[in-house]
Amino acid sequence: MPDTPATAAPALQHRHLLGLATYSADEIQRILQTAREFREVLERPIKRVPTLRGVTVCNLFFEPSTRTKLSFSLAEKRLSADVVNFSASGSSVSKGETLKDTAQNIEAMKVDLCVIRHKSPGAAHFLTRCINGVVINAGDGAHEHPTQALLDMLTMRDHFDTFEGLNVSIIGDITHSRVARSNVFGLKALGANVTLCGPSTLLPVEAAHLGVRVTHRLDEALEGCDVAMALRLQLERQSSGLFPSVREYHEQFGITRRHLAQHPDLLIMHPGPVNRGVELASDVVDHERSIILSQVTNGVAVRMAVLYLLAAAPAGAAA
Ligand code: CP
Repeated sequence: MPDTPATAAPALQHRHLLGLATYSADEIQRILQTAREFREVLERPIKRVPTLRGVTVCNLFFEPSTRTKLSFSLAEKRLSADVVNFSASGSSVSKGETLKDTAQNIEAMKVDLCVIRHKSPGAAHFLTRCINGVVINAGDGAHEHPTQALLDMLTMRDHFDTFEGLNVSIIGDITHSRVARSNVFGLKALGANVTLCGPSTLLPVEAAHLGVRVTHRLDEALEGCDVAMALRLQLERQSSGLFPSVREYHEQFGITRRHLAQHPDLLIMHPGPVNRGVELASDVVDHERSIILSQVTNGVAVRMAVLYLLAAAPAGAAA
Protein backbone atom coordinates (compact mmCIF):
# COMPACT_ATOMS: atom_id res chain seq x y z
CA MET A 1 0.00 0.00 0.00
CA PRO A 2 1.48 3.37 -1.01
CA ASP A 3 1.37 6.32 1.39
CA THR A 4 -1.51 7.82 -0.55
CA PRO A 5 -4.45 5.90 -2.04
CA ALA A 6 -4.04 4.56 -5.56
CA THR A 7 -7.19 6.37 -6.71
CA ALA A 8 -6.18 8.80 -9.45
CA ALA A 9 -7.11 12.50 -9.36
CA PRO A 10 -7.84 12.94 -5.67
CA ALA A 11 -9.59 16.32 -5.88
CA LEU A 12 -13.33 16.60 -5.18
CA GLN A 13 -15.55 19.18 -6.83
CA HIS A 14 -16.02 20.79 -3.41
CA ARG A 15 -13.49 22.72 -1.35
CA HIS A 16 -15.31 22.00 1.95
CA LEU A 17 -17.51 19.24 3.35
CA LEU A 18 -20.50 21.10 4.77
CA GLY A 19 -23.15 18.50 3.97
CA LEU A 20 -24.05 15.78 1.48
CA ALA A 21 -26.98 17.71 -0.05
CA THR A 22 -24.70 19.07 -2.79
CA TYR A 23 -22.30 16.13 -3.14
CA SER A 24 -22.71 14.00 -6.26
CA ALA A 25 -22.82 10.21 -6.33
CA ASP A 26 -19.34 10.25 -7.93
CA GLU A 27 -17.88 12.34 -5.12
CA ILE A 28 -19.44 10.11 -2.45
CA GLN A 29 -18.15 6.99 -4.20
CA ARG A 30 -14.70 8.59 -4.44
CA ILE A 31 -14.68 9.15 -0.67
CA LEU A 32 -15.88 5.60 0.06
CA GLN A 33 -13.27 4.08 -2.26
CA THR A 34 -10.50 6.18 -0.72
CA ALA A 35 -11.67 5.15 2.77
CA ARG A 36 -11.45 1.48 1.74
CA GLU A 37 -7.86 2.06 0.66
CA PHE A 38 -7.00 3.80 3.94
CA ARG A 39 -8.53 0.92 5.91
CA GLU A 40 -5.54 -1.15 4.92
CA VAL A 41 -3.25 1.35 6.71
CA LEU A 42 -5.30 0.86 9.88
CA GLU A 43 -4.57 -2.90 9.83
CA ARG A 44 -0.79 -2.34 9.85
CA PRO A 45 1.31 -2.67 13.04
CA ILE A 46 2.34 0.98 12.55
CA LYS A 47 -0.88 2.76 11.59
CA ARG A 48 0.59 5.91 10.15
CA VAL A 49 1.36 7.36 6.70
CA PRO A 50 3.06 10.72 5.92
CA THR A 51 0.22 11.89 3.63
CA LEU A 52 -0.64 15.10 5.52
CA ARG A 53 2.80 15.88 6.92
CA GLY A 54 3.08 19.66 7.21
CA VAL A 55 -0.71 20.20 7.25
CA THR A 56 -2.19 21.65 10.48
CA VAL A 57 -5.74 20.72 11.48
CA CYS A 58 -7.80 22.25 14.29
CA ASN A 59 -10.76 20.35 15.74
CA LEU A 60 -13.25 22.92 17.00
CA PHE A 61 -15.81 21.26 19.25
CA PHE A 62 -18.51 23.52 20.67
CA GLU A 63 -20.73 20.53 21.57
CA PRO A 64 -19.95 17.24 23.36
CA SER A 65 -18.71 14.33 21.27
CA THR A 66 -16.99 10.99 21.79
CA ARG A 67 -16.94 9.14 18.45
CA THR A 68 -16.57 12.06 16.02
CA LYS A 69 -13.99 13.97 18.05
CA LEU A 70 -11.78 10.95 18.74
CA SER A 71 -11.99 9.53 15.24
CA PHE A 72 -11.15 12.85 13.57
CA SER A 73 -8.23 13.18 15.96
CA LEU A 74 -7.06 9.63 15.21
CA ALA A 75 -7.54 10.09 11.46
CA GLU A 76 -5.42 13.25 11.50
CA LYS A 77 -2.67 11.55 13.51
CA ARG A 78 -2.73 8.46 11.25
CA LEU A 79 -2.11 10.87 8.31
CA SER A 80 0.77 12.61 10.18
CA ALA A 81 -1.00 15.99 10.31
CA ASP A 82 -0.23 18.43 13.12
CA VAL A 83 -3.36 18.50 15.30
CA VAL A 84 -4.69 21.03 17.77
CA ASN A 85 -7.94 20.54 19.67
CA PHE A 86 -10.29 23.29 20.79
CA SER A 87 -13.17 22.71 23.21
CA ALA A 88 -15.57 25.55 23.97
CA SER A 89 -15.54 24.66 27.66
CA GLY A 90 -12.43 26.17 29.24
CA SER A 91 -11.88 28.52 26.25
CA SER A 92 -12.40 32.27 25.80
CA VAL A 93 -15.91 31.51 24.50
CA SER A 94 -16.89 31.64 28.20
CA LYS A 95 -15.64 35.28 28.17
CA GLY A 96 -17.96 36.11 25.27
CA GLU A 97 -15.64 35.60 22.27
CA THR A 98 -17.64 34.98 19.08
CA LEU A 99 -17.28 32.03 16.69
CA LYS A 100 -15.88 34.39 14.04
CA ASP A 101 -13.22 35.82 16.36
CA THR A 102 -12.36 32.40 17.76
CA ALA A 103 -11.91 30.94 14.27
CA GLN A 104 -9.94 33.89 12.91
CA ASN A 105 -7.57 33.82 15.90
CA ILE A 106 -7.01 30.09 15.42
CA GLU A 107 -6.38 30.57 11.71
CA ALA A 108 -3.91 33.34 12.51
CA MET A 109 -1.77 30.59 14.07
CA LYS A 110 -1.43 29.09 10.54
CA VAL A 111 -4.07 26.37 10.68
CA ASP A 112 -4.90 24.89 7.23
CA LEU A 113 -8.10 22.98 7.91
CA CYS A 114 -10.86 23.24 10.55
CA VAL A 115 -13.25 20.53 11.71
CA ILE A 116 -16.24 22.02 13.49
CA ARG A 117 -19.08 20.68 15.62
CA HIS A 118 -21.59 23.28 16.78
CA LYS A 119 -25.14 23.34 18.10
CA SER A 120 -26.27 25.91 15.50
CA PRO A 121 -27.36 24.75 12.02
CA GLY A 122 -25.25 26.60 9.45
CA ALA A 123 -22.24 27.10 11.74
CA ALA A 124 -19.93 25.29 9.30
CA HIS A 125 -21.19 27.39 6.36
CA PHE A 126 -20.66 30.52 8.45
CA LEU A 127 -17.09 29.45 9.20
CA THR A 128 -16.28 29.30 5.48
CA ARG A 129 -17.05 33.03 5.32
CA CYS A 130 -14.77 33.82 8.28
CA ILE A 131 -11.60 31.91 7.37
CA ASN A 132 -9.65 30.94 4.26
CA GLY A 133 -8.96 27.33 5.25
CA VAL A 134 -10.90 24.19 4.43
CA VAL A 135 -13.94 23.49 6.66
CA ILE A 136 -15.35 20.06 7.54
CA ASN A 137 -18.73 19.88 9.25
CA ALA A 138 -18.64 17.44 12.18
CA GLY A 139 -22.32 18.06 12.98
CA ASP A 140 -24.20 21.39 13.04
CA GLY A 141 -27.40 21.36 15.07
CA ALA A 142 -30.16 19.45 13.30
CA HIS A 143 -28.74 20.30 9.84
CA GLU A 144 -26.12 17.75 8.66
CA HIS A 145 -23.47 15.32 9.90
CA PRO A 146 -21.88 14.30 6.59
CA THR A 147 -18.96 12.18 7.84
CA GLN A 148 -21.39 10.13 9.96
CA ALA A 149 -23.50 9.37 6.89
CA LEU A 150 -20.36 8.51 4.88
CA LEU A 151 -19.19 6.02 7.52
CA ASP A 152 -22.72 4.62 7.67
CA MET A 153 -22.69 4.12 3.89
CA LEU A 154 -19.24 2.51 3.97
CA THR A 155 -20.52 0.08 6.63
CA MET A 156 -23.63 -0.77 4.58
CA ARG A 157 -21.53 -1.31 1.47
CA ASP A 158 -19.43 -3.87 3.38
CA HIS A 159 -22.59 -6.03 3.61
CA PHE A 160 -24.28 -5.38 0.26
CA ASP A 161 -22.96 -5.37 -3.32
CA THR A 162 -24.73 -2.18 -4.33
CA PHE A 163 -26.80 0.71 -2.99
CA GLU A 164 -29.19 0.42 -5.97
CA GLY A 165 -32.48 -0.82 -4.54
CA LEU A 166 -31.11 -1.23 -1.00
CA ASN A 167 -33.94 -0.65 1.50
CA VAL A 168 -32.85 1.46 4.47
CA SER A 169 -35.24 2.53 7.22
CA ILE A 170 -34.24 5.37 9.53
CA ILE A 171 -36.29 5.18 12.70
CA GLY A 172 -36.84 7.58 15.56
CA ASP A 173 -36.29 11.25 16.23
CA ILE A 174 -36.00 12.45 12.62
CA THR A 175 -36.83 16.09 13.38
CA HIS A 176 -33.73 16.66 15.50
CA SER A 177 -31.42 14.39 13.48
CA ARG A 178 -28.58 15.74 11.35
CA VAL A 179 -27.59 12.09 10.79
CA ALA A 180 -30.95 11.34 9.16
CA ARG A 181 -30.69 14.32 6.82
CA SER A 182 -27.15 13.48 5.66
CA ASN A 183 -28.07 9.82 5.18
CA VAL A 184 -31.16 10.72 3.15
CA PHE A 185 -29.08 12.89 0.79
CA GLY A 186 -26.23 10.40 0.49
CA LEU A 187 -28.27 7.20 0.21
CA LYS A 188 -30.66 8.67 -2.33
CA ALA A 189 -27.76 9.92 -4.46
CA LEU A 190 -26.45 6.34 -4.55
CA GLY A 191 -29.82 4.80 -5.46
CA ALA A 192 -31.06 3.38 -2.14
CA ASN A 193 -34.71 3.43 -1.07
CA VAL A 194 -35.09 5.32 2.20
CA THR A 195 -37.98 5.10 4.65
CA LEU A 196 -38.30 7.53 7.55
CA CYS A 197 -40.29 6.27 10.55
CA GLY A 198 -41.22 7.88 13.83
CA PRO A 199 -44.05 9.49 15.75
CA SER A 200 -45.65 12.36 13.82
CA THR A 201 -44.29 14.82 16.42
CA LEU A 202 -40.73 13.72 15.58
CA LEU A 203 -41.10 13.67 11.78
CA PRO A 204 -40.83 17.08 10.11
CA VAL A 205 -43.53 17.96 7.57
CA GLU A 206 -40.87 18.56 4.92
CA ALA A 207 -39.87 14.85 5.13
CA ALA A 208 -42.53 14.16 2.50
CA HIS A 209 -40.59 16.38 0.07
CA LEU A 210 -37.25 14.56 0.48
CA GLY A 211 -38.20 11.77 -1.95
CA VAL A 212 -38.46 9.18 0.82
CA ARG A 213 -41.25 6.95 2.12
CA VAL A 214 -42.70 8.13 5.42
CA THR A 215 -44.48 5.92 7.94
CA HIS A 216 -45.49 6.14 11.58
CA ARG A 217 -45.60 2.35 11.98
CA LEU A 218 -42.43 0.43 12.88
CA ASP A 219 -43.75 -2.86 11.45
CA GLU A 220 -44.28 -1.15 8.10
CA ALA A 221 -40.77 0.37 8.18
CA LEU A 222 -39.21 -3.05 8.83
CA GLU A 223 -41.12 -4.94 6.13
CA GLY A 224 -38.65 -5.70 3.31
CA CYS A 225 -35.99 -3.62 5.03
CA ASP A 226 -32.28 -4.51 4.66
CA VAL A 227 -30.86 -2.06 7.21
CA ALA A 228 -32.66 -0.43 10.15
CA MET A 229 -30.88 2.65 11.46
CA ALA A 230 -32.25 3.60 14.86
CA LEU A 231 -31.70 7.17 16.03
CA ARG A 232 -31.16 8.49 19.52
CA LEU A 233 -34.09 10.23 21.14
CA GLN A 234 -32.49 13.67 21.52
CA LEU A 235 -34.20 14.73 24.72
CA GLU A 236 -31.77 17.66 25.12
CA ARG A 237 -33.01 19.26 21.85
CA GLN A 238 -36.73 18.67 22.45
CA SER A 239 -39.39 20.79 24.02
CA SER A 240 -41.60 18.71 26.32
CA GLY A 241 -44.68 16.75 25.26
CA LEU A 242 -43.53 15.31 21.90
CA PHE A 243 -44.52 11.81 23.01
CA PRO A 244 -46.30 10.50 26.14
CA SER A 245 -43.33 8.75 27.82
CA VAL A 246 -39.99 7.08 27.01
CA ARG A 247 -41.61 3.72 27.89
CA GLU A 248 -44.42 4.26 25.41
CA TYR A 249 -41.90 5.40 22.77
CA HIS A 250 -39.95 2.15 23.23
CA GLU A 251 -43.13 0.09 22.95
CA GLN A 252 -44.03 1.70 19.61
CA PHE A 253 -40.65 2.44 18.01
CA GLY A 254 -38.02 0.46 19.93
CA ILE A 255 -36.44 -2.46 18.01
CA THR A 256 -36.43 -5.68 20.04
CA ARG A 257 -35.46 -9.34 19.65
CA ARG A 258 -39.00 -9.95 18.39
CA HIS A 259 -38.27 -7.75 15.36
CA LEU A 260 -34.96 -9.53 14.73
CA ALA A 261 -36.77 -12.88 14.81
CA GLN A 262 -39.41 -11.62 12.37
CA HIS A 263 -36.77 -10.26 9.96
CA PRO A 264 -33.90 -12.78 9.93
CA ASP A 265 -31.67 -10.83 7.48
CA LEU A 266 -32.17 -7.39 9.02
CA LEU A 267 -29.01 -5.49 10.05
CA ILE A 268 -29.11 -2.94 12.87
CA MET A 269 -27.23 0.36 12.84
CA HIS A 270 -27.14 3.34 15.19
CA PRO A 271 -24.90 6.45 15.02
CA GLY A 272 -24.47 6.52 18.81
CA PRO A 273 -24.64 7.32 21.57
CA VAL A 274 -27.36 4.71 22.16
CA ASN A 275 -30.09 5.05 24.77
CA ARG A 276 -30.20 1.33 25.64
CA GLY A 277 -33.76 0.16 26.19
CA VAL A 278 -35.26 3.16 24.34
CA GLU A 279 -34.63 3.12 20.57
CA LEU A 280 -32.97 -0.32 20.76
CA ALA A 281 -33.44 -3.06 23.34
CA SER A 282 -30.13 -3.62 25.12
CA ASP A 283 -29.76 -7.17 23.75
CA VAL A 284 -30.30 -5.84 20.21
CA VAL A 285 -27.38 -3.42 20.65
CA ASP A 286 -25.14 -6.41 21.49
CA HIS A 287 -26.66 -8.78 18.93
CA GLU A 288 -24.51 -10.31 16.17
CA ARG A 289 -26.64 -8.50 13.57
CA SER A 290 -25.86 -5.14 15.18
CA ILE A 291 -23.07 -3.49 13.17
CA ILE A 292 -22.80 -0.43 15.40
CA LEU A 293 -19.15 -0.95 16.33
CA SER A 294 -18.22 -1.52 12.67
CA GLN A 295 -19.67 1.93 12.01
CA VAL A 296 -17.31 3.36 14.63
CA THR A 297 -14.31 1.49 13.19
CA ASN A 298 -15.11 2.77 9.69
CA GLY A 299 -15.31 6.34 11.03
CA VAL A 300 -11.52 6.66 11.21
CA ALA A 301 -10.95 5.52 7.60
CA VAL A 302 -13.76 7.73 6.28
CA ARG A 303 -12.37 10.77 8.06
CA MET A 304 -8.87 10.00 6.75
CA ALA A 305 -10.36 9.91 3.25
CA VAL A 306 -12.21 13.21 3.67
CA LEU A 307 -9.16 14.96 5.14
CA TYR A 308 -6.92 13.64 2.36
CA LEU A 309 -9.27 14.51 -0.49
CA LEU A 310 -10.11 17.99 0.81
CA ALA A 311 -6.49 18.82 1.59
CA ALA A 312 -5.91 18.14 -2.14
CA ALA A 313 -8.94 20.15 -3.32
CA PRO A 314 -8.17 23.18 -5.49
CA ALA A 315 -8.80 26.59 -3.88
CA GLY A 316 -11.27 27.49 -6.63
CA ALA A 317 -13.56 24.49 -6.06
CA ALA A 318 -17.22 24.96 -5.10
CA ALA A 319 -18.02 25.43 -1.42
N1 CP B 1 -22.34 9.77 16.14
C1 CP B 1 -21.82 10.83 16.76
O1 CP B 1 -21.79 11.93 16.22
O2 CP B 1 -21.37 10.57 18.04
P1 CP B 1 -20.64 11.64 18.94
O3 CP B 1 -21.66 12.68 19.34
O4 CP B 1 -20.13 10.86 20.14
O5 CP B 1 -19.55 12.27 18.15
